[in-house]
Amino acid sequence: QKGRFAHFMIKEAFDQPESVVNTMRGRVNFNDYRVVLGGLRSQLANIRRSRRIIFSACGTSFHSCVAVKSIFAELTEMPISVELSSSFLDEQLPIFRDDVCIFVSQSGETKDTLLALEYCKERGALCVGVTNTVGSTISRETHCGVHINAGPEISVASTKAYSSQFIALTMIALQLSDDNMQKVARRTEIINGLYRLSDDLRKTLELEPQIKQVAEQLKTARNLIVIGRGYQSATCLEGALKIKEVTYIHAEGILAGELKHGPLALIEASMPIILIMPKDRHYSDSENALKQITARMGKPIVIASAEDTSPLFNDLQTLRVPQTVDALQPLVNIVPLQLLSYYLAVARGIDPDSPRNLAKSVTTA
Ligand code: UD1
Ligand code: F6R
Repeated sequence: QKGRFAHFMIKEAFDQPESVVNTMRGRVNFNDYRVVLGGLRSQLANIRRSRRIIFSACGTSFHSCVAVKSIFAELTEMPISVELSSSFLDEQLPIFRDDVCIFVSQSGETKDTLLALEYCKERGALCVGVTNTVGSTISRETHCGVHINAGPEISVASTKAYSSQFIALTMIALQLSDDNMQKVARRTEIINGLYRLSDDLRKTLELEPQIKQVAEQLKTARNLIVIGRGYQSATCLEGALKIKEVTYIHAEGILAGELKHGPLALIEASMPIILIMPKDRHYSDSENALKQITARMGKPIVIASAEDTSPLFNDLQTLRVPQTVDALQPLVNIVPLQLLSYYLAVARGIDPDSPRNLAKSVTTA
């Protein structure tokens, strides 16, 4: 089942050029730029008429919702919020009949997400599932939904489900916005990016030997900071979660815009830092963050675009990834962090498929 790979985690990370295609198969038409999700067809009008969309999920699935929040809002022009399933009930969030609630879960069995689903159903909201497991409780209990079709995910640390959730959610936004003529250019750009995605992921996975070296370098680290902003906010959080769950290194995802509001105090020569810095509209802000870090003797490893020749990187280690559409760039940029967490675990003698204290499916609240 693991083929040439030593663990499911690395096998599943390497499945991604294929699994993302499976998520889009029969749904994205790259000739006429249409997206049709069979599972949403009957409720499309209701979703478009709703007053807001609320995402709810846990862990990595929560991060996939955070990752698509801004493109979802941009395409649908609807108010969007993203809530941790565990806080949903704690906060007794007000939910109404004209709300759409989207529950994202790889397993479809996560107790907290199920409880949030029951809560929203009781209040009359339209409940949509985005699940990987056909026949799972969340898939059955939601009014409609989308199976992400990533294939079984066995490793406790989620990799390919994250990219497929991201794509499924992006496809929902593309389908919801296909009646808006002002979005044609943006939709076309994204669909072209989805067409190239599999190749972009394949090229990114070629970083494996370089990432193994970085893991050797960082294997005795006690802390690790992952910094980024804008579209990469979720990448920081998800990268840090991957690192902590399989390597037991204390890792923190920090949004670059927040640096000067506290985290800058952590920066010094010995603090391991990864800075995610794609060429997008936040680039000059990221340059500022990089200058703030290097001025305090920080030496970040930069995840940068392959084409970026910035002299700011001259004395720094860089991991060069293919550049794609801004809203899809997180799909590419998470891959080096997935591989790094895997190789850090291996270098530290940890079995990444069985991290301590964790279960694949969390069926208790
Ligand atoms: C469906 C078939 C697929 C077939 C395709 C052909 C299934 C599971 N899928 O895919 O095998 O190739 O038609 O047209 O038989 N749903 C929920 N909640 C969820 C996820 C899904 O209620 O969390 C519902 C959907 O609304 C839909 C059904 O489950 O009614 C199947 O969803 P999905 O597999 O995404 O639909 P298709 O892509 O159309
Ligand atoms: C992290 C991880 C967990 C799950 C979370 C939700 O790698 O796998 O954080 O993402 O427990 O699980 P699902 O998606 O099954 O609801």
